[in-house]
Amino acid sequence: MNERLDNLLNRALGELASSSTKEDALKVKAAYLGRKGDLAILLKELGSLPPDQRKAAGEAINRVKDRIEEEAGALISRFDDAEKAERLSRERVDITLPGRSQRPGKAHPVTQVMDEIEAIFTGLGFDIAEGPEVELDYYNFEALNFPKDHPARDMQDTFFIGPDVLLRTHTSAVQIRVMESQAPPLKVIAPGTVYRRDSDITHSPMFHQVEGFMVDKGVRFTDLKGILTLFLHALFGEKTPVRFRPSFFPFTEPSAEVDIGCVICAGKGCRVCKGSGWLEILGAGMIHPEVFKAVKYDPEACTGFAFGLGVERIAMLKFGIDDLRLLFENDIRFLRQF
Ligand code: PHE
Repeated sequence: MNERLDNLLNRALGELASSSTKEDALKVKAAYLGRKGDLAILLKELGSLPPDQRKAAGEAINRVKDRIEEEAGALISRFDDAEKAERLSRERVDITLPGRSQRPGKAHPVTQVMDEIEAIFTGLGFDIAEGPEVELDYYNFEALNFPKDHPARDMQDTFFIGPDVLLRTHTSAVQIRVMESQAPPLKVIAPGTVYRRDSDITHSPMFHQVEGFMVDKGVRFTDLKGILTLFLHALFGEKTPVRFRPSFFPFTEPSAEVDIGCVICAGKGCRVCKGSGWLEILGAGMIHPEVFKAVKYDPEACTGFAFGLGVERIAMLKFGIDDLRLLFENDIRFLRQF
């Protein structure tokens, strides 16, 4: 018995020593210690030994079993450690590598100013309306009291698409579309893209306007002054001086041009305000009775004001940009500054 046990132990240790993987080691362990393994067979034979030898033989079998268990366990945990070390080095992350930086997009300066203007007017209870950029002569001119061949049409260098179809030259066309489909009272702004044949450092053939208008019983010029002053103070600061000058538009009477004290030189006179200390910022006036007639409103029953402003011009003044064309070159180094 002892000799067989010694042989068995030596074989087991030899096989463990030549195991090169965890799987090999597990197989050896099972072959000797498993329920049908070699030691189990020896244990079964115990019963056939003379009673006085059984105890010693049993103890000898258990010692061999313990020894094999110990050796196999140590070997298996060495394989486990090696595998873990290998995985750690394979999955190693160099935490000192600089990360990939995120470059989140943001709104274009023109969009930022549009958003700000919309927020101020929606805060005052104005609704937002839109109209088509390809427009009929009727909405862009005719219904706004620009008769055919009227010299005021020259103020706007129009891109014509057909005899009666054009790219809208101003958002005032939206006044007609809204009033045509809704009855007063109305408080509306109409932001949008407009087009004129004009291109230099202060003009672009495509630019943006925000139109605003309010129609109700008893709307007065002082309402226009109050709302525009409040708006310009919200946009440029409470202390900004605002003045109204008489002007002309076919669709408003009386008409005014609105100036703010120059934000560049604070009114002292500079290149941007051409020495005057004032910057022209919007056109405005009381909606002309002929416009009300065109949309079938009764000019005796309601009054209203309208105004229109150029968004690029305001963006240039707010951000101190001196060439309008920079806004449309899409140079990311320029745009990132705002
Ligand atoms: N539509 C005019 C323009 O583009 C601005 C304006 C709007 C003037 C509304 C008066 C009233 O110049």
